[in-house]
Amino acid sequence: MAEPIERNFGLDLVRVTETAALGAARWLGRGDKEAVDQAAVDGMRLHLSTLDIDGVVVIGEGEKDDAPMLFNGEKVGTGVGMVVDVAVDPIDGTTLTASGLPGAISVIAIAEGRGTMYAPGPLVYMDKIAVGPEAAGSIDFEAPIAENLRRIAKARGKDLGELRCLILDRDRNQRHIDEVRQVGARISIFRDGDVAAAIATAEDDEEVDVMLGIGGSPEAVIAAAALKCMGGEIQCRLWPRNEEERRLAVETGQDLDRVMTTDDLVSSDNVFFAATGVTGGEFLQPVVFLGEDQVVTHSVIMRSKTGSIRYMEAFHDLRRLRELSEDGILD
Ligand code: FBP
Repeated sequence: MAEPIERNFGLDLVRVTETAALGAARWLGRGDKEAVDQAAVDGMRLHLSTLDIDGVVVIGEGEKDDAPMLFNGEKVGTGVGMVVDVAVDPIDGTTLTASGLPGAISVIAIAEGRGTMYAPGPLVYMDKIAVGPEAAGSIDFEAPIAENLRRIAKARGKDLGELRCLILDRDRNQRHIDEVRQVGARISIFRDGDVAAAIATAEDDEEVDVMLGIGGSPEAVIAAAALKCMGGEIQCRLWPRNEEERRLAVETGQDLDRVMTTDDLVSSDNVFFAATGVTGGEFLQPVVFLGEDQVVTHSVIMRSKTGSIRYMEAFHDLRRLRELSEDGILD
């Protein structure tokens, strides 16, 4: 029988990201990106299989041949319940975690209905602009960055010189940096993790006004799910790296001129999102090992329909969980 859509799946989803974060945090600073990712994927998959959803992974670890788990197109959940598209990023900030640097999170989003999340296909990057609720409705991807900053400043009641823009630290984003500098707005460059950066634009206690620049396409869809819950907005366009990718886009029917909106990326109005901090940072605190198998995680759970945003601190007794898991009981 179908689940009533009123149920808040976010509370189930957070157990998925908590388990992923708990696994990955053990690899903090140990220089092993693969181990970080594998620990998070294992944790995530274990919990996902118990959820009463009829889910298909739209944003996952990649194509089946390269990703043995959580691959795009994989069915997840018990198969009983709400039909959903699923987007996962077991760790956004794998390198950060392996290097012991702040900013990594584990994320998952689900959207009611099949085909409600955009599948980016073979193009891995998108040029993006993301803002919080106050500036939502005032941005235009096709306008110059200077114009967008003026509009955002107006919506936020700030001077241009007070604006704070987050930009992913990549050579390809130098144009964005130069244009922001020309109008005299402030910039915080970040090394990795543009899902958390997009979310920061919509947080009440954050002074971040906009996230700009070219980052991962899957991350754009996940950010759209979160911003939909928070009332923010993202606009973006596929960014081919070379002629080969331009050709691929044409072959797979992707329109390289199309500006995609939040609703294009996630069309459902019933979206659930959860994230757990792995290495800590401005957005979510890290996994904290207290000793004697006691561990603390910090997460956020959101739902688009109600607009509820819950921050959650959870204490885990790993010794007890190990014992219970022998009887098939999960946290
Ligand atoms: P991973 O943790 O999956 O490697 O992603 C980190 C990240 O910084 C994303 O947040 C961002 O969208 C993407 O990488 C940018 O890709 P690239 O590192 O190839 O420039």
